[in-house]
Amino acid sequence: MNIFIKDILTVLPDGIKTCSVYVSDGVIKSVTTEPEGFVFDKTIFGNGKLLMPGLINAHTHAPMTILRNCADDLLFDDWLFGRILPLEDKLTGYDIYWGTMLAVMEMLRSGTTSFIDMYYFMDDLVRAVEETGIRAVLSRGLMGDAGAPGARDNRLKEALDAIERHKGHTRIDFMLAPHAPYTCDEGYQRTIAQEAKRLGLPIKTHLSEGLVEMETIRTQYGCTPVELMDKTGLLTDTTVAAHCVQVNDSEIALFAERGVTVVTNPVSNLKVANGVAPIPKMLKAGVKVALGTDGAASNNTLNMFRELAVLTLIHKGVNHDALAVTAEEGFRVATKGGAIAMGRNDLGEIKPGNIADLVILNLDCPNMQPINNPLSALAYSANGSEVETVMVGGKILMENREFPHIDTERVYHEVSKICTKIGTR
Ligand code: NI
Repeated sequence: MNIFIKDILTVLPDGIKTCSVYVSDGVIKSVTTEPEGFVFDKTIFGNGKLLMPGLINAHTHAPMTILRNCADDLLFDDWLFGRILPLEDKLTGYDIYWGTMLAVMEMLRSGTTSFIDMYYFMDDLVRAVEETGIRAVLSRGLMGDAGAPGARDNRLKEALDAIERHKGHTRIDFMLAPHAPYTCDEGYQRTIAQEAKRLGLPIKTHLSEGLVEMETIRTQYGCTPVELMDKTGLLTDTTVAAHCVQVNDSEIALFAERGVTVVTNPVSNLKVANGVAPIPKMLKAGVKVALGTDGAASNNTLNMFRELAVLTLIHKGVNHDALAVTAEEGFRVATKGGAIAMGRNDLGEIKPGNIADLVILNLDCPNMQPINNPLSALAYSANGSEVETVMVGGKILMENREFPHIDTERVYHEVSKICTKIGTR
């Protein structure tokens, strides 16, 4: 299918300008110049609209939409061990599928075209991603035995089997995901690092998120979580580490040296009272940084526009520095930064040859007018409600805020039933 997006204000790698974009068979064929012999099946008129690369949510747990607004105003450890893990024990693959469908609706509606996920019931996650048309990198969260001998080996086998079953999918990639330093002991971390190396799989993990984690690892191993993961071989140039709130300068230098991508989740870190990650220092040190919402149980949305606003605001206040993370830097982190986290150089920017994961915003809304500086508008004024049309790989997944391929009423109904079953409502 060929799509002609005519005369639209477009976020390009080198700035913002009005141009026409030509999409052919899922790829951005040309920007500005009409390709020879281009016959289009569909025209989108760009008047009053803005075209941007899709946002990339580089750390989330999609099915946790089910647990939205049921574990709030709790410190991280009370939130995770006291409330979330016992509820997750009640979830089935059926629940995971519907929770993911709801998550995909929310992400598309707010301009996200790709997400990096860590959860379980991989087949059900794959099915939701397949059916909705969104792009994803999936991983099965790996935790140690915790009183159930052999459980960790089973989880690793389950992860590897799922990857084998679903490999070669055009829109889904996989990572191996040790959940966190405090849920995977040293031996398990080494095993996972070896398997990842053997199979050429990237690593996904939570790292240095909260103070209790720092204390736990210090007591158990006499080092920091970052030092432990480096020792076990988990910090590589394809590692994607979420949070990294409690890190010092030498650990930031280590991230840069190893080529680790840090995914910052400012709203989740604020909500469960874990603090603020030193992102400006990381950017200065040349660390690869991406942006994520974390799950809907600790945010409580999957809205990357809100995340972008908080990313660009909070570091100014904390550092008394109005340039700490600029609108331009924040937008890049939320798009190209996510593409780098995914290991993709054909996403995150609008340029010829890249995959057409595109988002169109309607600028005819009060909070976006007047359009003096479009990048400022995206970082500081937009809230996601401006997103009108979304395509992934050139396929339109949302048009005029409607989902042609999703039965939205059914999704709300099924998720509501699940909440009644597990007792969150
Ligand atoms: Ni997380």
